[in-house]
Amino acid sequence: MDEGKVAVSSCKSALLYNERACSYDQELEAKGYQGPSTAARALAAIFTDDRKNKVILDIGGGTGLVGEELKKEGFAVIDILDSADEMLAIARQRCIYRNVIKAEVKGHNSTPLEGDSFDAVLGVGVIFFIGNVGFTCSDIREMIRVTKPGGIIIMTLRTETLYSNLYRDKLLPLFDKLQSDGVWEQLERSQFKYMHGVEGQLFVYRKM
Ligand SMILES: C[S@@+](CC[C@H](N)C(=O)[O-])C[C@H]1O[C@@H](n2cnc3c(N)ncnc32)[C@H](O)[C@@H]1O
Repeated sequence: MDEGKVAVSSCKSALLYNERACSYDQELEAKGYQGPSTAARALAAIFTDDRKNKVILDIGGGTGLVGEELKKEGFAVIDILDSADEMLAIARQRCIYRNVIKAEVKGHNSTPLEGDSFDAVLGVGVIFFIGNVGFTCSDIREMIRVTKPGGIIIMTLRTETLYSNLYRDKLLPLFDKLQSDGVWEQLERSQFKYMHGVEGQLFVYRKM
């Protein structure tokens, strides 16, 4: 598989989200966005005890909607990483994060984060493609790199994104290859109501 084929500029993603930051939470609430609560509940179902000591990374965490849901579930050590300053400025105001990290995921080894360092890594609504902006398959390898062996990786995306021209032949084959290569094992794949009138996909993996 040519992982470079979905090569896009996430700098443009930062521009796009900086412009939307002030209205993002209101906009998503009005649309009935369920990604953050769905992902947080899925993680809570796996970590049934000692949640307050689990070290969590929210990749592409934006304004912190996922962090808020994680907090409600009892998680207390949460780092957020995003490439958009204005989104992170809103996240920072929530005062729920151990670290607020401004960084752009640009493939394997692209962030300053240490490998094998998080009990769970979430990417909620981060796999998307708008215009020529998107999250690449090799960005998923970065999520895996920073997860501890035995740790959890959770991703949500719109079903229409999964089957779009850009991702259809790439994401699911990559997910399957990572499983057959013994990199991770799938714990769950399910559909959920992403927002009003939009179906979403939840993927939960354990890093081997
Ligand atoms: C649709 S928003 C989702 C935000 C949050 N996870 C939520 O569910 O509300 C996508 C976020 O991913 C960030 N993002 C996209 N590509 C990124 C990349 N390559 N590196 C870091 N952040 C990225 C954007 O800046 C934006 O804040």
